[in-house]
Amino acid sequence: MQRTIFLGASGDLAKKKTFPALFGLFLHGHIVPTTRIVGYARTKMDRPDFLKRISQYIKNTNTPKVKAMLDQFLDQCTYVSGVYDQDSGFQALEHELKRIERETKTIDRLFYMALPPSVFIPVANGLKKNCYTPKGVNRLIVEKPFGMDLESSRVLSKALGALYREDEIYRIDHYLGKEMVKNIMILRFTNQIFGSCWNREHISNVQITFKEKIGTEGRGGYFDEFGIMRDVMQNHLFQILSLIAMEAPASLSAEDVRSAKVDVLRAIPPVVESEVLLGQYGKSEDGTLPSYLDDDTVPKGSKTATFAAAAFHIDNPRWAGVPFVLKCGKALDQQKVEIRIQFKDLTHNNLFQKDVAARNELVIRVQPEEAVYLKVTQKLPGLGMDTVMSELDLSYASRFTNLSVPDAYENLILDAVMGEQSNFVRSDELDEAWRIFTPVLHKIDRGQVPVDIYPYGSRGPKNLPEFVARFGFERHLQAYSWPETSQV
Ligand code: BG6
Repeated sequence: MQRTIFLGASGDLAKKKTFPALFGLFLHGHIVPTTRIVGYARTKMDRPDFLKRISQYIKNTNTPKVKAMLDQFLDQCTYVSGVYDQDSGFQALEHELKRIERETKTIDRLFYMALPPSVFIPVANGLKKNCYTPKGVNRLIVEKPFGMDLESSRVLSKALGALYREDEIYRIDHYLGKEMVKNIMILRFTNQIFGSCWNREHISNVQITFKEKIGTEGRGGYFDEFGIMRDVMQNHLFQILSLIAMEAPASLSAEDVRSAKVDVLRAIPPVVESEVLLGQYGKSEDGTLPSYLDDDTVPKGSKTATFAAAAFHIDNPRWAGVPFVLKCGKALDQQKVEIRIQFKDLTHNNLFQKDVAARNELVIRVQPEEAVYLKVTQKLPGLGMDTVMSELDLSYASRFTNLSVPDAYENLILDAVMGEQSNFVRSDELDEAWRIFTPVLHKIDRGQVPVDIYPYGSRGPKNLPEFVARFGFERHLQAYSWPETSQV
């Protein structure tokens, strides 16, 4: 793929994520010198301003070699400004693409749409009409939101489907590009020890948790319309759930992997209101940190949830009776994303009491500081037979000292360039996810699900411990903490 056209190029995602990721790929030789990257947005600016904007978040450029590489990379980037709803802008873009084509003798096009939902369809239309090349490959990367519910998502899918083939559409969920999320299939399907106990016989419950320390802080406008369930749970956390819960795919091909994910989603009934806990953050306990409603970009009196926990049940032979509890929130006490698989209590243990042999847990920490650790009970070193809960610990920072973890966007843009769709969301996958969420989301939209206020910087709504306990999660009875160095 020789050409990337980035639509929405003056936005936050472009400067903070996409262009740094493109530069990362360039640095590692994945973007060849004949590639050109063309930014397109409404903002009127000249090329130097555009280059300044897209390079401000590119880090570690202080060595002369990297600095020179950055200059070369920027030489390959140009900018066209134009509107999203008229042909004139896309014709100007096409003119630039043709000019590049003559210069580099390349034809394939990768369009990356990072745009507000209101212009999704007009832009997809404008591109098809004016910039689609019949001579080479066309691919369209689409950023969320993919609709607000089942119906609007179907409208969008239908409109996109009328313009592009499914194998040309790359719906991006950046969680699928995270190192630890990509590791889930490998952990499950290459280790006998995990494969054999990955089921209802051995597992009591699964917790998937997303916590951010910051609140909406100026992004309230977008966020308020969607709320945390649509923003994070229905997409990012649900992708993790499908990878944890799916059966082994028939092969590693994109279609087989995605079909296995769809199959498990089909076994999940819609989430019910009585199994949802919502919260919105208020001021911090000491009054120094603002409440959600103090954010000027949030509509006055908004009831939008900034925290959600919900339980999902999978009606199939592997998982019947094992709740999957998903939790996500902003303005909490920690910043982390993790998957916690809690095993069942020991059966027939006549040697040790429950309080000295607590449940095993396998924890996959997605971020920060990627790690996989298994909590196990062992003898406390010393005289006597006291036990202690400790961990078999695979912390990436100490195990893979010479390797760096690539950014999620680097992974996914490279996949799209290579035409690899496994880590992009297929339309039937999206449809199933919306089917599961839509009834409760509509109740939430109508204000029929209570929203509890929790203090900024806390663990979330006060009923959270009781909520997770309802679904079988047990806090360890023995005090347990990570050693100083790896504690987060
Ligand atoms: C985005 C959400 O998709 O993911 C944000 O819109 C959230 O609200 C972000 O903060 C989290 O991504 P990451 O990679 O920082 O965990």
